[in-house]
Amino acid sequence: MRFANDLIKFLGKKPPLRILFVTSEEAPFAKVGGLGEIMFSLPRALNKLGHDARVMIPRYGTIERSLPPFNMEYEGLDVPTAPEQSGTRLICNVLRCDSTDDPHSPTITYFLENKEYYELRSNIYGYKDDAVRFALLTRGCLEFLNHGSDWLPDILVATDWMTGFLPNFLATDYREYKKIRKIASVFSIHNLNSQGPQGDHRFIPESELDNGYGSIPDFFDLRMENINAMRRGILYADVINTVSQKYAQEIMTEEFGEGLDGILRERRDRIFGILNGIDYETNNPAADNYLAANFSVKNLERRGENKIYLQKHFGLPQGQQIFLSGIVSRLTKQKGFSLFPPVIESFLKETRSQIIIMGTGEIEIMTYFQDLEKKFPDQVRAQLQFDGVLPHLIFAGADVVLVPSNFEPSGLTQMEAMRYGAIPVARRVGGLADTIEDFNPETQEGTGFLFDEFNPMAFLIALIRSFVNWKHHASWRKLQCSAMEKDFSWERSAKEYERLFYLAADFHARNGIKPHYIPPDTPHHLTRGLKPGL
Ligand code: GLC
Repeated sequence: MRFANDLIKFLGKKPPLRILFVTSEEAPFAKVGGLGEIMFSLPRALNKLGHDARVMIPRYGTIERSLPPFNMEYEGLDVPTAPEQSGTRLICNVLRCDSTDDPHSPTITYFLENKEYYELRSNIYGYKDDAVRFALLTRGCLEFLNHGSDWLPDILVATDWMTGFLPNFLATDYREYKKIRKIASVFSIHNLNSQGPQGDHRFIPESELDNGYGSIPDFFDLRMENINAMRRGILYADVINTVSQKYAQEIMTEEFGEGLDGILRERRDRIFGILNGIDYETNNPAADNYLAANFSVKNLERRGENKIYLQKHFGLPQGQQIFLSGIVSRLTKQKGFSLFPPVIESFLKETRSQIIIMGTGEIEIMTYFQDLEKKFPDQVRAQLQFDGVLPHLIFAGADVVLVPSNFEPSGLTQMEAMRYGAIPVARRVGGLADTIEDFNPETQEGTGFLFDEFNPMAFLIALIRSFVNWKHHASWRKLQCSAMEKDFSWERSAKEYERLFYLAADFHARNGIKPHYIPPDTPHHLTRGLKPGL
């Protein structure tokens, strides 16, 4: 009666699930962007629904073993690196950290420990052998579940290329392992654009491209360089999801499919879009301790104090009459910063407005904003370091936030901003299209300002529309209230994940342990028309 489907049959109703997320990031232990945030808040939301959701990440060098208390769960885990068990092995430990009732406490987390691949590295990504580091995480997880853990999940969730091998191993090399063969796999795509450490699989010649059906070689085999773990996650998982409905549709097109739209279309009946949520306890303007003044839709006038506080904090001229734009973002190409240079200086000059940027990322973009600050010392501030508190101050004090993304699987910044009454100016793609309705001044309906074409002029038009509408206080207030009243809490999304997980368990049981697996010597052209579930 251990597994969800046995219980459904037996009880006639759905029992709580045991879910393990295997991932490279989880706030507050290790976070680069939205993925880390989601791996903190989604398991917590599932636990509130009565499930037992846990997370497994590597113990990177920056995660101290003593703080908070970690317990040794399994010492001396022997992880094979080759398909055959007789090959090289890497020795790992599994540590565990339990959760508390504190709203800032993450769920139960397992840490895979290995000196060479995690402990001696202080960054999450960026090493030549990242493929090996994350392959080790997936196989380490399965070895732990098979040999070292009393607790077994019904569902394993892999996230992005980093853990794309997990569904693959489960459906092939580990499919005969009795203890874990009933576990269903879900592959969550948070960003299709990033497909591995070696750079870009999209530019690997067709003849050398891994079609995904051969076995995963030894981690130290040179062939590993051509293996696209994202593709494999998509091919082998029981179900696939991405983080908004619109992005789920977009990735099946050539424009957004990043070279994988073909296999995504083949598996379209297993692909689901579930919009991310945000944590309403830690993002609450009425109770947020970091703010100069707490506020809600009932006393929105108090929000103004936060604008002055923000301007003061950054050493900018203070005043309610100055239009203030905020940016809280990873500073990468995805986020659309190439739209700024042709138009933003004219906007700053004509409107005498202010822009505060907070984020870190690509050197070129960081340098651009540093230079902009030098050119406009009374109007621009660039804080190019990660900071946990500043986003709250920016969302509570800025009039608008700018999110002109080229593509956006979900996006969290626009949801957090709306919760605090900062209005998004954004491109109508992915999760931005699913969370923002364009404001119509005639009907006074909508929650932000959207543009369609990815070009500087289209962005500028949306920005000017926001500036002009901001001058009309009564309707702006109405716009802020509509934005603040939108429900982006996890409750709704967590229920959709719950349904997705039951569906995955069901698919897995119905397909038996038979994987979506084609023998390695099958010619590539024969796999083109592959139907899911074959
Ligand atoms: C990635 C996506 C972003 C999404 C986040 C969490 O960072 O680029 O859109 O919000 O993952 O799912």
